[in-house]
Amino acid sequence: MKTKLFIFTIVLFPIMGIAVAQQQKAQPAPNGIIMPEGYKDWRLIASSVRSDNNTMRVILGNDIAINAARSGKTNPWPDGTVFAKLVWKNKTHEKWPTATIPGDFVHAEFMIKDSKKYASTGGWGFARWLGMEQKPYGKDAEFVQECFGCHTPMKDNDYVFTHPAVLP
Ligand code: HEC
Repeated sequence: MKTKLFIFTIVLFPIMGIAVAQQQKAQPAPNGIIMPEGYKDWRLIASSVRSDNNTMRVILGNDIAINAARSGKTNPWPDGTVFAKLVWKNKTHEKWPTATIPGDFVHAEFMIKDSKKYASTGGWGFARWLGMEQKPYGKDAEFVQECFGCHTPMKDNDYVFTHPAVLP
């Protein structure tokens, strides 16, 4: 009996854990971009709020993005920069009605700078994953035209809307 329990905890349980972890890994975006690993640990570039659809966002950057932001080298952003934008529905704090906090998770989206590989879309690779189930967004690889099109007014700022938030 004890041996059986031992086998379950030491051998089977970790294997089951790995299987679950693999299942949870998001599918690549239709343009082949794989969800950047470790983005939840990246640091803050800025936050934003959209009044038209009641959502709040944080824009995080990998180390290359953070270094560029802190040294003001953001036009153009260097190759290797990756932004993660995480979006939540606005929610009212249950004990403080004037405080708006993150509610349901809407999506995670990314911009990956590689001026050669993504030359046709301003040097940026675009990808988005929807909801908690992280479903890849877009019917086919053409979805990037929608992203790129809307970011085009920011051409003079390397197609990036976000200005790094001021820090002391
Ligand atoms: C209808 C216009 C529109 C479309 C379409 C759009 N974006 Fe954006 N995007 C914005 C705006 C406006 C901001 C800045 C405000 C904010 O934070 O939401 C932004 C910000 C971002 C940022 C943070 C960096 C930056 O440029 O400020 C990322 C990453 C991003 N978008 C990715 C995407 C991806 C990926 C797609 C396509 C799947 C996409 N966007 C489509 C308007 C758009």
